[in-house]
Amino acid sequence: MDLDLNILRQDLAGKFIGHPFHYYPEIGSTNDEAFRLGLQGAAEGTAIFADSQNTGKGRMQRVWHSPAGVNIYTSVILRPSFDAARAPQISLAAGVAAAEMMDFYFPNQIHLKWPNDILIGGKKVCGILTQMKTSGSGIDFVVVGIGINVNSRYDQFPEDIRDIATSLSIVSGRTMAREELIIHLYENMAKWYRELAKSGFGAIREKWLSLSPMIGHRVSVGFGVETISGKAVGLGEDGSLMLCTAENGIIKVLAGDATILKRG
Ligand code: BTN
Repeated sequence: MDLDLNILRQDLAGKFIGHPFHYYPEIGSTNDEAFRLGLQGAAEGTAIFADSQNTGKGRMQRVWHSPAGVNIYTSVILRPSFDAARAPQISLAAGVAAAEMMDFYFPNQIHLKWPNDILIGGKKVCGILTQMKTSGSGIDFVVVGIGINVNSRYDQFPEDIRDIATSLSIVSGRTMAREELIIHLYENMAKWYRELAKSGFGAIREKWLSLSPMIGHRVSVGFGVETISGKAVGLGEDGSLMLCTAENGIIKVLAGDATILKRG
């Protein structure tokens, strides 16, 4: 379904996130383009949107499969005035914003998996890749890249991820208008980012925890060849996953891929 740029431009005019709005029918990666624009001084709230990506980037050097005309591939430039150590909070706030947007259309079906995967029916429907340019201990700018599988068909996913990824239309059985989702996403991002800047991480952490089934369960977190297992007991102020491990008590995990091992 073609994207109606007039609807988007009209609605986004004057908004905090999405104005200016740069649209590309095809691009390497919206994150790379946002980073380039960030270096040139692009304003906070600038959004980049592509209809397809040739070299879409995922976390941990993975590829983000980005077929044309069906999904959301967007990156937003933010210029927070706080310390670089707080950057993971921005990423988690974006996860909350995207999950809350999808929860509106799929009530009680959306779950967050640390750090920032969004799942529906246990399968990944959205991923977030945050990159930043620091200046001293501060942040020059942050690029928050969000990929949402909106209308991808089952056969459009590469075979190796067909059973672990899904799209909103596979779940709902209907094609969804990307314009409405994008506008809703940017509004939520503005809301949670302002909350973070004004009042700190507390409300974001609370919302994140309410949307995540991980806490209280045994999880394993893999990073390269290493795996740590323990009971997930909380989300640290630095965005870390707090695990209670048999060997070392409570530890903070800062990066990796988490899997829930069992319920209970
Ligand atoms: C993940 O691995 O879960 C993160 C995926 C992030 C994908 C999005 S799509 C828009 C933006 N541009 C990119 O190249 N990556 C992010």
